[in-house]
Amino acid sequence: MNKQKDLQQRKEIAKLGGGEERIEKQHAKGKLTARERIEVLLDKGSFEEIGMFVEARTRQNNQSFYGDGVVTGFGKIQGRLVYIFSQDFTVFGGSLSETHAEKICKIMDLAMQNGAPVIGLNDSGGARIQDGVKSLGGYADIFYRNTRASGVVPQISAVLGPCAGGAVYSPAITDFIFMVEKTSYMFVTGPNVVKTVTHEEVTSEELGGAQSHASKSGVTHCTFADEIKALRGIQQLLAYIPQNCEDNPPLVEACEPALSGESLQDIMPSSASQPYDMRELLYAIIDENSFFEIHKDYAENILVGFARIEGRSVGIVANQPAVLAGVLDIESSRKGARFVRFCDSFNIPLVTLVDVPGFLPGTDQEWNGIISNGAKLLYAYAEATVPKITIITRKAYGGAYDVMSSKHIGGDLNYAWPDAEIAVMGPQGAAEIIYKHEIKQSDDPEAMLQEKVAAYRDEFMNPYKAASRGFIDAVILPEETRAKIARGLDMLSQKVDNLPRKKHGNIPL
Ligand code: HXC
Repeated sequence: MNKQKDLQQRKEIAKLGGGEERIEKQHAKGKLTARERIEVLLDKGSFEEIGMFVEARTRQNNQSFYGDGVVTGFGKIQGRLVYIFSQDFTVFGGSLSETHAEKICKIMDLAMQNGAPVIGLNDSGGARIQDGVKSLGGYADIFYRNTRASGVVPQISAVLGPCAGGAVYSPAITDFIFMVEKTSYMFVTGPNVVKTVTHEEVTSEELGGAQSHASKSGVTHCTFADEIKALRGIQQLLAYIPQNCEDNPPLVEACEPALSGESLQDIMPSSASQPYDMRELLYAIIDENSFFEIHKDYAENILVGFARIEGRSVGIVANQPAVLAGVLDIESSRKGARFVRFCDSFNIPLVTLVDVPGFLPGTDQEWNGIISNGAKLLYAYAEATVPKITIITRKAYGGAYDVMSSKHIGGDLNYAWPDAEIAVMGPQGAAEIIYKHEIKQSDDPEAMLQEKVAAYRDEFMNPYKAASRGFIDAVILPEETRAKIARGLDMLSQKVDNLPRKKHGNIPL
């Protein structure tokens, strides 16, 4: 046979993966094939495949498929280089053999050498049973590279089908996990094992579906209604982040916010005890439509996500007064800390909006470790060397004042609005403690308490005590916020701050 024709034929066979029947089955489940996913994700015609003719070493019933259940290579997204692997469920259920793992490792090594993100599209029945321990070794080879690459190049995982057993630990080490509702699930042990061990009856969807991981475990960062939306989500996310730890995030053309700066006065309630939606506040500060929220349905008392201010990429961390008054608890501290560390790894400045009444009290919080979990957020901020700009919009009470990117832990520019209340605690609690005796001895304790609360409020519940010590750099009007942040980012754009020499720190995990 003509050699060119032979090559062409081999390529066509390879592109069919496990064959047409299995491709139909994949489509019937509402899923795209490995190659279709790559086509949606990458710039048209940019994909360069590596390892198309790799075959498994261990064979069952003498069956062998080109590619061995994973399509790997490199290409472009919005003109920027990325490395990609896409597991092919039509070949042995996308299960991971020794050679399948070698293909993934090869592109991860290239990504590290050439400083570009790695995107993994996961859809796999786990370890290739026929490959035994070689498959387990292959997983560990990938975990090792995931860990080595962490903080060097961005790593993004989409889970687009099953991802079970130890296989979950590769996505877990990557920076972001995206899932699709109803077709993807992740768990260490599936419903059958759960039933045997704990007698719990649970479906795959309940145990490890997108919604469970979005709202209960926080394992997934973003969930989408279908695969196309998930793949578009990866494209959007990449637009905020640099190629590697030595690169800067892309600059885009600036645009005005969706809401005017003046509207901030209307968004803020007249009473400090009333909630408001911090997202609305953001919409009057950031470039229009630029908020890419991470962990939207998890620990909703804190907001984290990427945004742009005058075209510059920033990481937003903001207390959310509309949920639990914006209090810091275990989950919100972990959520914030993880995001701060990602931004710091990849040179994305942090903008922190503070309205926090403190840490959540209670046995549940204490026994589950609010101490070490709250410390994660504190540590992450203190360790971060990227530009850090903080705006206190209303409450900044107690330890939470310190934690939320205060000047003391390295905030570069710290501003407060005129209504800000920067104090050790709220006026009621404070008055009850420090005026305890006067209140008790008074003929009218309630009136005395209210008098003391008012006096405390006048004396302490303002930003000027903090500003007088230089803990706040300026008290600004809400409508000035966007311009102040933009100028601050510009001023800090060449910031150099190095951590003391060490092997690595010991964040309270
Ligand atoms: C080899 C596998 C496979 C596997 C599926 N297949 N999983 N082949 N090794 N792990 C094959 C099937 O034989 C079938 O081949 C094809 O893939 C599709 O599988 P189906 O079962 O028909 O598909 P579906 O009904 O959608 O079910 C998908 C599934 C199920 C839920 C993933 O296949 C399943 O439970 N597989 C086993 C999962 C598992 O226990 N994996 C090991 C986990 S332990 P044909 O030829 O019919 O198309 C693990 C350890 C990792 O992963 C440790 C890392 C540290």
